[in-house]
Amino acid sequence: MKHVLMIAFALGAVLLVAAGCGGGGKPAENKGGGGDSDKISRPEPAGDYKGKTNPTPDAVEEGKKLFETHCVTCHGPNGDGDSPVGSTLKPPASDLTDVKLQDAIGDDYIFWRISEGGKALNYDGMTPFKDSLKEEQRWQLVAYVRSLKK
Ligand code: HEC
Repeated sequence: MKHVLMIAFALGAVLLVAAGCGGGGKPAENKGGGGDSDKISRPEPAGDYKGKTNPTPDAVEEGKKLFETHCVTCHGPNGDGDSPVGSTLKPPASDLTDVKLQDAIGDDYIFWRISEGGKALNYDGMTPFKDSLKEEQRWQLVAYVRSLKK
């Protein structure tokens, strides 16, 4: 009888240790970078925006100037969303330097979002720029946004 108890005890201990090791699985979660779970997904640009390509992909300097005038209030001087205004919006102003975001979106998506603003996705945080900036200027901004990728 005593034996049986001992075995049961030992088994219990083994199970406990095993459970403990289960917790050791955690570092896998922290691997980051490349885990599918933290992939960013965004919808396709709507209507005519879909499939558009940037006619001025090298206009980074022009885009930078426009960004400093029209975008830093919310996206911050570095474009990473770190600004007093941008962080209070819901959802907050996006970190445009984020590799995962940059890899998830096309130039057509960026042009669409600059043109239509938040309401493209039923958010109201971001101003639309299709009436205040020329098409060429919005593409210059796309070029600059692309240059922000970290
Ligand atoms: C009034 C604040 C505000 C201004 C000004 C603003 N944005 Fe935004 N922007 C936001 C917010 C908030 C979001 C996140 C919510 C959303 O996707 O609409 C966003 C999202 C974006 C996105 C989509 C990123 C994503 O996560 O899908 C792009 C691209 C972008 N902004 C570029 C710009 C550019 C370029 C300018 C300047 C021409 C600009 N924004 C000006 C607030 C702003």
